[in-house]
Amino acid sequence: MEKKFKRTLVTCALPYANGPVHIGHLAGVYVPADIYVRYLRMKGEDVLFICGSDEHGVPITIKARKEGVTPQDIVDRYHNIIKNSFLGLGINFDIYSRTSSKVHEKNASEFFRKLYDDEKFITKESEQFFDPEAKVFLADRYITGTCPKCGNPNAYGDQCEKCGSTLSPDELIEPKSALSGSAPVKVKTKHWYLPLDQYEPWLRDWILEQHKEWKSNVYGQCKSWLDGGLQPRAVSRDLDWGVPVPVEGAEGKVLYVWFDAPIGYVSNTQELLPQSWKKWWKSDESRLIHFIGKDNIVFHCIVFPSMLKAYGDGYVLPDNVPSNEFLNLEGDKISTSRNWAVWLNEYLKEFPGQEDVLRYVLCANAPETKDNDFTWKDFQQRNNSELVAIFGNFVNRAVVLTQKYFGGVVPQNLKPEDVDRQALEEILPSKKALENYIETFHFREALKEAMNIARIGNKYISDTEPWKVAKTDMDRTASILYTSLQICADLAIAFEPFLPFSAEKLRGILNMDVAAGFDHRAGEGEPTVNFFKPGEARALHTVACNSMPEHVVISSEVEKSLSWNDLGSVELLAPGHKLGENTLLFAKIEDAVVDAQMAKLAAIKAANAAAAAAKAAAEAAAHIEPQKPEVEFDDFGRMDIRTATVLAAERVPKTDKLLKLTIDTGIDQRTIVSGIAEYYSPEDMLGKQICILANLKPRSIRGIESKGMILMAKQGDGRMRFITPAEAGTANPSPDALVNGAQIG
Ligand code: 2FM
Ligand code: ZN
Repeated sequence: MEKKFKRTLVTCALPYANGPVHIGHLAGVYVPADIYVRYLRMKGEDVLFICGSDEHGVPITIKARKEGVTPQDIVDRYHNIIKNSFLGLGINFDIYSRTSSKVHEKNASEFFRKLYDDEKFITKESEQFFDPEAKVFLADRYITGTCPKCGNPNAYGDQCEKCGSTLSPDELIEPKSALSGSAPVKVKTKHWYLPLDQYEPWLRDWILEQHKEWKSNVYGQCKSWLDGGLQPRAVSRDLDWGVPVPVEGAEGKVLYVWFDAPIGYVSNTQELLPQSWKKWWKSDESRLIHFIGKDNIVFHCIVFPSMLKAYGDGYVLPDNVPSNEFLNLEGDKISTSRNWAVWLNEYLKEFPGQEDVLRYVLCANAPETKDNDFTWKDFQQRNNSELVAIFGNFVNRAVVLTQKYFGGVVPQNLKPEDVDRQALEEILPSKKALENYIETFHFREALKEAMNIARIGNKYISDTEPWKVAKTDMDRTASILYTSLQICADLAIAFEPFLPFSAEKLRGILNMDVAAGFDHRAGEGEPTVNFFKPGEARALHTVACNSMPEHVVISSEVEKSLSWNDLGSVELLAPGHKLGENTLLFAKIEDAVVDAQMAKLAAIKAANAAAAAAKAAAEAAAHIEPQKPEVEFDDFGRMDIRTATVLAAERVPKTDKLLKLTIDTGIDQRTIVSGIAEYYSPEDMLGKQICILANLKPRSIRGIESKGMILMAKQGDGRMRFITPAEAGTANPSPDALVNGAQIG
């Protein structure tokens, strides 16, 4: 990495606090960011890792309304779930705050006010959809209707989740308010707009010329936005949940969530470092990296940079915006509303002690260049045949044999051979490649290189067979295990960014561990000194700290063993060093475990299908034609309804719809012409028992005299069915049984 920056500020997209975090979020944003931060810290770099909940926006208000609670209740619930589950997976932000905080409200408000005072906004009056029943303006998400592209009847005013099209409420067929179901009307309202078009020439140069190194999916999306021409973008909304617009005449208006949320990165930094936050945000020695999902690209590459540029005052702009594509689940798009996801909080409960398996699988399978699929079978397979069979197996063999032959003490390298040196040397190119991949945000490939080091160890111990050599040559056995243990120590370093829990466990097995870590930010005049809790397992820094509290003791051996730069060094564990207690690094995952997860998904799928069917039925019912006006009983009594049998049936020539039926009513045989030929063939009708209106005035249809009419009844969904004389032969049925008789013909 070019070393022109003194420090790196890493942000992760602030997740909406309207649901827990799922594997799609993790694979796309949080796991790669955490790997990156851990790696930089192991290299001794000064890094700040910022995140928090995004607590404004329409989906949160919709959820609150559905549940009959306040938006604050919703965000309180999910903020804590999300915060704890990140910690549970070892994703240790320096701060995880929230956009409903006072600091943020003040900050976002001041940010808007400065742009307003500096006349960076334009105002526009436009017609917006308004719910006349609920008496509120409707944000795009509050309007549903039929997608003009795919016919999905449940498309939103901003997007169709079925076909993925971006929509505007104007495009929806039969738009409805999601609040009251009533048809929205257009009403004039005033909003503030950031004129992005004015920033276009600057953005073109800054992104398209100066950041050609950005990932191709990010660069490509920016280019297509810029080529399409930028439009002024509204930064306020008519809504009662959010940061109020801080100017006169803006009652009932709040900042658009995408205006306030990215300012949250700054607010959260301020909250953590009230005195030194500017060092991170307003210094050209700071490097800013935003980790985001692909649906956030435009906001982080175009809108937020334009806001910062408009604000001026030396704000840093992102140096890179690594963004991934989407992760699917078992072949289907992950969806919060359909509950089609693996939720992190549930995973942590159901797979205690297996946090790293999820980190491993999500990184190995990350959707870095294209959408990818998570399957439980793949999860099981990667655990059993990679983590257990390669990494865990190698470490276990090296440690168990050292215990068996050398009492758990690192032996002397008494009889080295070329093969030992070669194995250790092979690690160096993997280390180099790994570094290069992480520094260019290719985490999948980086993980492969870490795994390659485990493969090197596994192959080395299989090839040298210390368990056989021990029968004849203990000096040589000592060298083999000495070498194997050095590779184990390399693995503890190489895997720390990816699998922090397992790396910590491995350090315990090798007795390389310490009880507490030290946060290098202490000594900058900030109030916080953080000690790493068990499980946080953050790498220790060897960077100079100005003041180190007395009770933090870091032995020089441990410092040395945990620095990234020592990976691949000749001797990480000296002869005579006593190993710790051996435990298995990874446990096999049995079929029953993944079968249970798949059954859980199948149940969700079935529940979704049932809900969709019920919804379709309800919608069909909602489309029932209204009942006709009441009639008097006498009107009905004048009708002579009779059963009959179809004796003959034929199509009426040169028509598509008409059948000529000869029927026996029991009192006579007669002809009826009926318009049912589209649905029934003459063969279908032959011998059929039907009901007819016998005293309908005869009329001539296509030159055929039709005497009477076949009776049919309308189903709820409007389809017609024959009234068949099931009661034939029993006592006279009451005329009420036939009240719904309707006719075609
Ligand atoms: O897409 C999302 O989940 C947004 N809540 C991300 C916001 S990122 C930032 F701008 F705060
Ligand atoms: Zn659609």
